[in-house]
Amino acid sequence: MTTTPVPPVPMPSAQIPYSLADWCSGYRSQPEEFSYAITDIEGTIPADLRGTVFRNGPGLLEVYGQPVKHPFDGDGMISSISFNQGQAYFRNRYVRTAAYLAEQQAQKPLYRGVFGSQKPGGPLANAFDLRLKNIANTHVIYWADKLLALWEAAQPHRLHPATLETLGLDDLNGLIPPGGSFTAHPKVDPGHHGQPRLVGFSAKPGLSTKITLYEFDTAGSLITQHSHSIPGFAFLHDFALTPNYAIFFQNPVSFGPLPFLLGLKGAAECIDFNPHQPTRIILIPRQGNAPLQTIETNPCFVFHHGNAFEEAGRVVVDSVCYKEFPRLEGGTDYTAVDFDQLPDGQLWRFQIDLAAGTAQSESLVSRCVEFPVLHPDRLGQSYRYLFIGAAHAPLGNAPLQALLKFDTHSRQSQLWSAAPRGFVGEPLFIPRPQAQTEDDGWVIAMVYSGERRCSDVVILDGREITAGPLARLKLPHHIPYGLHGSFVPQVF
Ligand code: CO
Repeated sequence: MTTTPVPPVPMPSAQIPYSLADWCSGYRSQPEEFSYAITDIEGTIPADLRGTVFRNGPGLLEVYGQPVKHPFDGDGMISSISFNQGQAYFRNRYVRTAAYLAEQQAQKPLYRGVFGSQKPGGPLANAFDLRLKNIANTHVIYWADKLLALWEAAQPHRLHPATLETLGLDDLNGLIPPGGSFTAHPKVDPGHHGQPRLVGFSAKPGLSTKITLYEFDTAGSLITQHSHSIPGFAFLHDFALTPNYAIFFQNPVSFGPLPFLLGLKGAAECIDFNPHQPTRIILIPRQGNAPLQTIETNPCFVFHHGNAFEEAGRVVVDSVCYKEFPRLEGGTDYTAVDFDQLPDGQLWRFQIDLAAGTAQSESLVSRCVEFPVLHPDRLGQSYRYLFIGAAHAPLGNAPLQALLKFDTHSRQSQLWSAAPRGFVGEPLFIPRPQAQTEDDGWVIAMVYSGERRCSDVVILDGREITAGPLARLKLPHHIPYGLHGSFVPQVF
């Protein structure tokens, strides 16, 4: 690959390449539900791009006039963009969770949010209300003919893939009981064991944390299930997968639930980072017949892993690391966030020596990045390219305004930036049919335009993202900043 230097992007007159007002305007609720053919298109949708992008994220940033404390508390809304013969069709629809329906009926907040949103009435009205609002807002996957909206502390919701209608809670063929949970970050093993598998987990944190690992075949039937207990509280959002291991990072955090019980804070606001404790890397053998291995590394906080692979007695894990848990202080409104006061995510590589029981870490990308993705067939294998949301400026914490392509072989980066007025979400990498190289495909992301106050869907050529979008699909409305999504080759 030829790597061209990142071209300078003109800066606005202010020192930072964005305005907070623009950024905040992407966090407005979108109460409308749409279904239409996209007609306002700059450029050309590739004719051989065929399939459906599903995305999930908070759609309501307020409940009947009461703002959520944190976007992660917003009700899940699914968007789909289907591509066929150079045309695109858009839909969005709320996940009709029991809590969403109850609040719509009552026309007021009835639940506390994990990230600090409270019911009206102060601490007295919130104390000892420990019900979880299953807001189904984190990820959406399609597996074994089921479209599932995921939220990591509860059962998935099943949706109709064409209409996005909510069909109800899904217990994964009886595996996840009421009150149980399933990760928002299952992984598709592309076929290390012959056929693709879906690998996911449930975590039950407490004084010790129980991790149950599940593997499903392409029909959705369970292949393996095994449980493990690790000492201490663990906040496990994501994991990494290789042919032989499921890999978890136990961040050095503790949970002091008293302010939550007393109605003063959300549960996630009771998490404290312990900078003097190591991060523990937990390797669980996928076969389930060997003990897990725990290896300590420097303290850091990880939400998302980019990829992992095995190589000559080592396991290599590439992850987005924060210096500490990036939490908001008690009274802080997320729309008034000072990015300089929060740690930025940076891409790090961990080289784990299984025999020695040691891990070495090195920085790969020091620019602020989040939401890593790669070619789906390279998951769990040595790989070359990672695509990831990135800040426009090379240093410091800032909103994601760019997409970065990182070459793990040459350690070079390419950047496409939507600054100063564009804000990007998680990209997806979609291989081109008959692709010749790992980066031969399309990078698709939602980009919120602070100028139009609407969202765009951009399609970039994975081989040369610096060339800018092949197509920009201008939606006549906005979709609030989302979380995770997936692509399927079926056109819905
Ligand atoms: Co996530």
